Amino acid sequence: LGGAYALRAKMDFCRPTKTNMLLLGVLFIGLVQVLFSLRGTLQAAQGFASPNHDVGGSVDVSPVSPGRWCAETWYHSSQMEKVFRQDADRLTENETILCDTLRQFQYMDMWEAPIRERTFRRPETLVFSTMCRQGFQPQVLEPLAGILRDPRFPCDTAKVGNKDAYAGSKEWLLLADSADFPPYEDTRRIFFDAGGTTFRSALLWFLRQYETRGLPLDEIFVWEAKTISDEDYWAGVPNSTRDLYRSKLTRFNGIPIVTDLGGYHNPVTHIRKRCRRQDFCVFKLDVDTPSVEMPIVYQLIEDPGHLSEFYFEHHVRSPIMSRFWGLTRINGTVQYSYDLLSQMRQKGIRAHSWI
Ligand SMILES: *[C@@H]1O[C@H](CO)[C@@H](O)[C@H](O)[C@H]1NC(C)=O
Ligand SMILES: *[C@@H]1O[C@H](CO)[C@@H](O)[C@H](O)[C@H]1NC(C)=O
Ligand SMILES: *[C@@H]1O[C@H](CO)[C@@H](O)[C@H](O)[C@H]1NC(C)=O
Repeated sequence: LGGAYALRAKMDFCRPTKTNMLLLGVLFIGLVQVLFSLRGTLQAAQGFASPNHDVGGSVDVSPVSPGRWCAETWYHSSQMEKVFRQDADRLTENETILCDTLRQFQYMDMWEAPIRERTFRRPETLVFSTMCRQGFQPQVLEPLAGILRDPRFPCDTAKVGNKDAYAGSKEWLLLADSADFPPYEDTRRIFFDAGGTTFRSALLWFLRQYETRGLPLDEIFVWEAKTISDEDYWAGVPNSTRDLYRSKLTRFNGIPIVTDLGGYHNPVTHIRKRCRRQDFCVFKLDVDTPSVEMPIVYQLIEDPGHLSEFYFEHHVRSPIMSRFWGLTRINGTVQYSYDLLSQMRQKGIRAHSWI
């Protein structure tokens, strides 16, 4: 976009009319954009982010360049993320402005391509963000951008003809892999699932994803406020999968999570007790009750050393999401979600917006 405008600006530069001043401004923006792409290319060439992620197929086990360990914990928002973060509510106010912003500077293409091709091995650093956790390798994360969902929702509708085709997509999430969390002698990998109605609904997806990424889970804890029979919980799961995971899984059936610090059914209590530095711990928080979720999120931010990866569907006031979420049982706006998730990333937790 910048390039096309820049060309026109160069052609009739000479007369200092209002239009020309405007075109000059656009030319300047174009130049800044080119400089940013150059910087991105340089960073990528230096292998700055050690991308090692692959979706679906085999896990990339090629050695990550040695010696590049994070001396401290930090989070680097991509250029696209910065654009959205400084004005998240306005830029997600309606589909027009959301999709226009995504498409500007070809962000949409750079973000969509690796999702479509199912490989994140060389992510574009203008779009993808980088996190360092002290003592670990730099890690790549999907950007906190747009409506914090698959960028094809709701913008890429032409191809599928269905506005909501990508509303529940998980393909855009960049999960950790064994290059981010190499095993130690006594590493344990633990999954905490707060809001787990059935094994098949999300847990099975997570377990398979992590297995593919060289991070098979050893222990699983599931809380569900509703009482679900064993038969219903395991419905539709192949016997072999059930046999594999049943012994690893502790179900707190018909037990809602609590928020008091140290409470037995506060998942944070288990995370603090069980997850040591050499462990890989994942927590999915989706109980659809902000008054329960928010205290837990803040407890995680205050004591971040235990958790590796976090998924959270934060229900906020969003004109685009309100037809899914309604207007009750929400708190804050999209900007608040950005703030929470980036606070966690700044503390070294791979925090994702869950669907
Ligand atoms: C979408 O939101 C933007 C930013 O607030 C506003 O300027 C624009 O008029 C809105 N468009 C529609 C179609 O509502
Ligand atoms: C799966 O296990 C159940 C009992 O646990 C059994 O009734 C069923 O036949 C098994 N299915 C297959 C395909 O083996
Ligand atoms: C949102 O949360 C804050 C702090 O937790 C609370 O004071 C406020 O009343 C909540 N708002 C809604 C609409 O639930």
